Amino acid sequence: MTYLETTAKFYAEAAATPQVGLCCISTPPLQYPDLKIPEIIQQMNYGCGTTIHPTELTGAPTVLYIGVGGGLEALQFAYFCRRPSAVIAVDPVAAMREAATRNLQIAAQENSWFQPEFVKILDGDAFALPVADASVDVVAQNCLFNIFEPDDLRRALKEVYRVLKPKGRLIMSDPIATRPIPSHLQRDERLRAMCLSGAMTYAEYTQQLIDAGFGQVEIRARRPYRLLDTQTFNLDAPLLLESLDSVSFKVPIPKDGACIFTGRTAIYNGNEEMLDDRAGHMLLRGNPVAVCDKTAKTLAAQFPQDVIITDPTWHYNGGGCC
Ligand SMILES: C[S@@+](CC[C@H](N)C(=O)[O-])C[C@H]1O[C@@H](n2cnc3c(N)ncnc32)[C@H](O)[C@@H]1O
Repeated sequence: MTYLETTAKFYAEAAATPQVGLCCISTPPLQYPDLKIPEIIQQMNYGCGTTIHPTELTGAPTVLYIGVGGGLEALQFAYFCRRPSAVIAVDPVAAMREAATRNLQIAAQENSWFQPEFVKILDGDAFALPVADASVDVVAQNCLFNIFEPDDLRRALKEVYRVLKPKGRLIMSDPIATRPIPSHLQRDERLRAMCLSGAMTYAEYTQQLIDAGFGQVEIRARRPYRLLDTQTFNLDAPLLLESLDSVSFKVPIPKDGACIFTGRTAIYNGNEEMLDDRAGHMLLRGNPVAVCDKTAKTLAAQFPQDVIITDPTWHYNGGGCC
């Protein structure tokens, strides 16, 4: 059995017997006015952070959701894109597709605005998405891609890139590791399926996105997710996993490298009213301007006396320099 088969088996069991906190849920699912999330969907919340960012969902985009789970985020996306097949949810695990279908029927009974037709559930796999090239506005996945080994993650990201329209967005939430996870844990297929041992470091994870061709990556949240203790996990020191929410844009990678926004700002603190770096950045004295990490580094090197760069907040919601 491969680790992908072990994963499929694990989620077939999770579909048959909902396990609260399977993916270490510590926050309740996002609530919106007139959105009632059925109890069973809450129990089957198998994600870590969230992929629902309302600012990415104006204009009722078509959303391809990979790894439907109990249907929580498919329902939340449908809330914003209310039309038949607005959300296409794929999952290779028949039991999970059946559970999500049942759960969304219940959601329709509890939410007058929702029709099950808003979500089209398809048999599909992250490595062979059942949609045409450049056909969707948004692709989302929560707590699935971290399970993939690096070569498989590359394949999955290539597939996402294929199906996204130009300027389309990949919205992800995944655990990341604060240091490389030792190989004895990485090889444990069950821990991997549980999103506990496949996580990459932040640097590896963002590099995979850039290698796949995404020219702009925005970090929406980064927070502690789970501590792997020394005794249970046979480690020399405890290992903290974090959850990372991000939005990556299918835009060309600029010549000088991709833009990664982590919530840094640049603040001009010189003697003039304004600083123009002649590279498209105008900084009014005293006014923080959101900058990507690349621009932050350039400005800090160019104007070491006059520009202050603030630390990442790990929350960036658009409107930056590039
Ligand atoms: C950790 S759960 C996350 C479920 C959902 N995203 C959530 O947040 O509740 C992983 C989901 O991915 C599905 N899955 C497993 N292998 C997959 C694959 N190769 N391609 C697509 N989905 C897969 C599982 O059946 C399960 O529904």
